[in-house]
Amino acid sequence: MSILVLNGPNLSRLGKREPEVYGRQTLDEINQELAASFPEIVFEFFQTEDEGVLLEKLFHIEDKGGYRGVVLNAGALTHYSIALRDAISAVTIPVVEVHLSNIYAREEFRRKSVISEVCTGVISGFGANSYHLAVRALMGLVRNDQL
Ligand code: DQA
Repeated sequence: MSILVLNGPNLSRLGKREPEVYGRQTLDEINQELAASFPEIVFEFFQTEDEGVLLEKLFHIEDKGGYRGVVLNAGALTHYSIALRDAISAVTIPVVEVHLSNIYAREEFRRKSVISEVCTGVISGFGANSYHLAVRALMGLVRNDQL
């Protein structure tokens, strides 16, 4: 089972960036922990600061086939990118929206996600564990034949 873990703008700065909000682990550390926790899964990890590159990655893995799902932390794109929303709608691969922080307990502008409606589900507020929970959710869907 292959899963793409896709991170958007500013997530390359984890570890240094507002550690009180996002924790002290770097994205590499989070990714390594994820791979170690689920040895049976083939992970691809990808991060970009660029909206267009993020969309292209989504389309690329959709066309390539063989992936069972995407764990997506879109960063701030979550709150305003209709292009990202349309891209998620345009693919058949299930996308789980994740956030390290609880976006519903933060500033007003973060409480709105324009992508949630077109994602398979949302996990927000569990720090690095949000990624682990999203992988578990995808595994559960595959096991129950819901994908
Ligand atoms: C985030 C929350 C977003 O509001 C923010 O723009 C991020 C990170 C999170 O993981 O908590 O970049 O997606």
